[in-house]
Amino acid sequence: MGKKILIITGSPRPNGNTNTLVAAFMAGAVASGNEVQIFDAVTRELNPCHGDCSCFERGYCMFKDDGVKLHELMGWADVLVFASPIYWKGFTSQMKRVIDRFNPYNAPKGRASCSVTETYLISAAITPEINIFNAVSQEFVHLNEILNFKICDELLVPGVEKINDIQKKPEYIKKAVEMGYRIGQSQLQEEEQNIENTIKKSFVDSPLRRHQEGCWLI
Ligand SMILES: Cc1cc2nc3c(=O)[nH]c(=O)nc-3n(C[C@H](O)[C@H](O)[C@H](O)COP(=O)(O)O)c2cc1C
Repeated sequence: MGKKILIITGSPRPNGNTNTLVAAFMAGAVASGNEVQIFDAVTRELNPCHGDCSCFERGYCMFKDDGVKLHELMGWADVLVFASPIYWKGFTSQMKRVIDRFNPYNAPKGRASCSVTETYLISAAITPEINIFNAVSQEFVHLNEILNFKICDELLVPGVEKINDIQKKPEYIKKAVEMGYRIGQSQLQEEEQNIENTIKKSFVDSPLRRHQEGCWLI
């Protein structure tokens, strides 16, 4: 059985570089048996966090907007993917709004309702130097530390500006497909390891083993 992947998309350009990478990532993830859902931070109705932190007690936000759907998806997903271009060295405001709405997961009740364990980051920027992603990577690390998610991988694409620029860098599209595909493979490896451990354990505990070790008790 594959993993449940939630992708948060934060680019206002539907056919832009980030969303092309997301489509490639999704194709890879689905091909290796995972289930994918998208929460588009751009088209969803999402109030910005008001910071009263009553969500810490309640376990979810007070707003009855599309955050209700976001919360439901956070309780469904095993894997969370952030996909945002760089705006002013940071995430887009749409993506930041989603991140702020993760506040309930920073307290025990909300965290217990969130099934996410692993995360990925996909980003694109016009600047050709890779250090343009430093601020976003730092925020990503911080968020994962606070919420106790494991960072699995990052796909950062510098030097893309116009909507189709990513097509001139097919190596990144290939990387996106592979990154998605690997999620299913790692799940398969995990399942194989679990089966192997179960077999080993049943052998260790078996009467036959006890007999072989000279401690056969009847
Ligand atoms: C408001 C705005 C701010 C931006 N700020 C930066 C920036 O600080 N650094 C950078 O390298 N690119 C910046 N860009 C360029 C985008 O990151 C780049 O065009 C990217 O490819 C857009 O991704 P998309 O095609 O997924 O929309 C900015 C673009 C916009 C519209």
